[in-house]
Amino acid sequence: MRSEKNLSAAPSAVAHADKVKSLIVFFSRKGQNYPKVNLTIGYTQVIAQYIRDRVDADVFEVVPQDPYPEDYDAVVRRNQREEDADARPAIVGPLPDVSEYQSIFIGYPTWNMQMPMVMRTFLDSANLNGKTIIPFNTNAGYGVGSSVEVIRRQWPNASVLQEFEVNGADAAQSRKAVNRWLEKIGY
Ligand SMILES: Cc1cc2nc3c(=O)[nH]c(=O)nc-3n(C[C@H](O)[C@H](O)[C@H](O)COP(=O)(O)O)c2cc1C
Repeated sequence: MRSEKNLSAAPSAVAHADKVKSLIVFFSRKGQNYPKVNLTIGYTQVIAQYIRDRVDADVFEVVPQDPYPEDYDAVVRRNQREEDADARPAIVGPLPDVSEYQSIFIGYPTWNMQMPMVMRTFLDSANLNGKTIIPFNTNAGYGVGSSVEVIRRQWPNASVLQEFEVNGADAAQSRKAVNRWLEKIGY
């Protein structure tokens, strides 16, 4: 929310401004990516930054305690194992206290037409009912898969806004598209 915080405002107004503060939670993987690129900043992180450039928000990067390998095929294999086990890989903490925020942007790449299991760990960790959830996603051209549906199912009393999704290869050129989307959903 692009609010101008008036520091001389009455305490109640300040409390309100704090309450509408947004949080951006994202997971993004650096390293070797399809087809043959080596990323120093993951594609989803690029989008997270564009959102942060426009929205006054705190940012929490989901970092798995056991880092994903840089090698693409090794990640694909590990992801498959985690999906098969319905795993919840541990996140380097402390996790954010979501009660401080009304709006939570949740960003992740599509992995095997779902969200990476480490994002499911985050979804399990926080009570998101009553929150406004704004998904954003990068993928290799196949879209968000079942990920947004998973969020809706898990937190039926959250208000899930229209997501942003883009092919990761186009992430760097997407600042305008991100801004258009943010404007459309009221940010
Ligand atoms: C394990 C794994 C599985 C993937 N599965 C899909 C998929 O099912 N559909 C798709 O469009 N892209 C898939 N991708 C490609 C990523 O979604 C895409 O490269 C994304 O932009 C990477 O974002 P990041 O750099 O933020 O991690 C997969 C990538 C990995 C590493």
